[in-house]
Amino acid sequence: MTHVVRRVLGPAATPSRLHAERSAAILGIALGVAFGTCFVTGVLSHLIQEPPGWFLWTSRPAGLYRVTQSVHVATGVASIPLLFAKLWVVYPKLFAWPPFENVAHLVERVSLLPLIGGGLFELFSGVANINQWYPWPFNFRTAHFAVAWITIGALIVHIGAKWATTRSALSRGRPPPEPDAKRDALDRRRFLLGVFGTSGLVTLLTVGQTLRPLERLVLLAPRRPNVGPQGFAVNRSAVEAGVVETARRPDFRLTVEGRVARPLRLSLDEVRALPQHEATLPIQCVEGWSTSQRWRGVRVRDLLERAGANPDAEVRVESLQQRGAFASSELNRWHAHDRDTLLALDVDGEPLHIDHGFPLRLIGPNRPGVMQTKWVTRLMVT
Ligand code: HEM
Repeated sequence: MTHVVRRVLGPAATPSRLHAERSAAILGIALGVAFGTCFVTGVLSHLIQEPPGWFLWTSRPAGLYRVTQSVHVATGVASIPLLFAKLWVVYPKLFAWPPFENVAHLVERVSLLPLIGGGLFELFSGVANINQWYPWPFNFRTAHFAVAWITIGALIVHIGAKWATTRSALSRGRPPPEPDAKRDALDRRRFLLGVFGTSGLVTLLTVGQTLRPLERLVLLAPRRPNVGPQGFAVNRSAVEAGVVETARRPDFRLTVEGRVARPLRLSLDEVRALPQHEATLPIQCVEGWSTSQRWRGVRVRDLLERAGANPDAEVRVESLQQRGAFASSELNRWHAHDRDTLLALDVDGEPLHIDHGFPLRLIGPNRPGVMQTKWVTRLMVT
């Protein structure tokens, strides 16, 4: 790293002059904002997928989750150069002797372990996840979620401990009139510009996976959202889900049962004969990519009404897929009764491809892609 810094800023740019409190403070603030944003958007994503009793996720605005999860992944990616630069700036202090001066200092130093370890783990596991690479035996979501809390706890302790130092490092007015002070400030500025520039660049080369105007710049994102059958991506194919045979069976039936007055059992032709509705809605994958399509199908609320369900009924949407996170999803009362929540038969004017959920897939506003259940066979009203 020192070698790289010297090459970029010139031989006079000694690391000691760049390991300044001011650089650490600026990078710390940027990382605090980035990790805070990741934490809030990540916890929101968790609440949407596993809602506790007090949490009711709205179905409007239709693209809100698209924004929050895209921000989560983009901010996480932007944090990678920031975290490594910050570690490089402060590493001489990490090995300072004596290791602590008093009890408060000891607590602050101990909190660095979960902060650095947790930060590195979150970034590594997040990047591995968006590449669908799981080189570990544990569940990604459980671990990423738990470590997020530990990291944020340690970050709060760290901010508390460094508040005064940060303020004084940033509030220093003009540099003292030492001969090297001006050059130091210039080197520092160039170093920080380089770090923020790298952070901006990696984000720019990734964010086109969800931001259409930047689509052509997608060089680092693992997924092209517009590549796949019918012109958009697939996360789990029919083969992977083990539904190729069952989805194509001529005796396929959609059933609506549970807390209803008149259970329904409909063939595909009968579903097609019901009033159809169109909506343009996004699929926002939890892994950061998104795509928007024109869908056509039956409104879930029309099916519920036909079956005589309560006007505030909630629904479990079940797939032909037998196991895994994609096998079913819940529609709370807002999502179940939204005018655009459909069991889609067609996309962009064609019958759904089997990898997109033929014969029927759930598509609704403001939901993670993992909750847009494919190969739907049953609505269980609760
Ligand atoms: C490069 C960095 C990161 C990437 C690419 C990333 C990616 C992801 C992805 C794809 C998910 C959705 C997982 C799923 O629902 O299947 C997620 C969830 C989450 N992320 Fe990150 N993340 C990153 C950094 C962070 C950081 C720094 C924090 C907090 C300090 C964080 C906190 C969370 C939380 C709390 C969740 C919710 C987990 C759950 O649903 O149980 N992430 N992240």
